[in-house]
Amino acid sequence: MLEVRDLTKYYTSIPAVEGVSFAIRPREVLGYLGPNGSGKTTTVNMLIGLLEPTRGHIYFNGRDIRDNLIEYKRAIGHVPEVPYIYPYLTGREYLQLIGRLRSLAQHATDKKINELMQLFGMHPHRHSLISSYSKGMKQRILICAALLHNPQVLIFDEPLSGLDVTSALVFKNLVKSLSAAGKIILYSSHVLEVVEKVCSSVIILHKGKVVADDSVESLRNLMQLPSLEQIFAQLVVQEDAEQVANNIVEVMRAYA
Ligand SMILES: Nc1ncnc2c1ncn2[C@@H]1O[C@H](COP(=O)(O)OP(=O)(O)OP(=O)(O)O)[C@@H](O)[C@H]1O
Ligand SMILES: [Mg+2]
Repeated sequence: MLEVRDLTKYYTSIPAVEGVSFAIRPREVLGYLGPNGSGKTTTVNMLIGLLEPTRGHIYFNGRDIRDNLIEYKRAIGHVPEVPYIYPYLTGREYLQLIGRLRSLAQHATDKKINELMQLFGMHPHRHSLISSYSKGMKQRILICAALLHNPQVLIFDEPLSGLDVTSALVFKNLVKSLSAAGKIILYSSHVLEVVEKVCSSVIILHKGKVVADDSVESLRNLMQLPSLEQIFAQLVVQEDAEQVANNIVEVMRAYA
């Protein structure tokens, strides 16, 4: 089980994440939702051990991850929000590098890389430089990299970013299969439609604080609204989107 208690991060005097607590058990997919700047990536970076919390703790199977960060990192796979990957390597070389960094057996890993690249439609591009890849192709490589060591915990930060309809559909089904295989999954996104389909429970974050925390079903019952999109709008969106769009066009006209 992955458990977070009172997780808090201050970059400045204003908290980016404040007092967040949750637990994710095997087979559970927690949707971590919130508008831009609400603290999703900050939470994810603390969860993967990249960022030290100002306050609060993260426990994996009952142990504070800071007691043995290296062992914990072996158990996690992470798809980052921004694809920082070496442009001068080919997709295959990059995955081989990840395999080596994770101390995986080379022969078995090479086979796994071939098969994963095939399944993600990247096999024809395996010998091309990452610098020549499209955004969606880089994203597919990042997903392969996160799965390579068969981690128990998967942390996805906007994983559908750049993926086309087909790849997104494969990914959504993959999340379900990973969950059925007993993985612990956190799925951070602002794409509500997907979260609703793949997540067992949802946390909604606003300005670093949890404003809703429940199963998708009970959130819906609670709010009496048919879709998460409407719940989300009710909980966190204060601005009138139509009005803002009109104002933007006004400003464009005014200074043209
Ligand atoms: N390295 C940093 N230094 C200072 N402030 C930061 C830093 N990273 C994030 N922040 C601030 O913390 C807050 C939360 O940012 P975060 O990136 O966690 O949001 P997010 O929910 O992931 O947003 P998005 O949907 O745009 O990805 C924002 O106000 C942001 O400006
Ligand atoms: Mg983010």
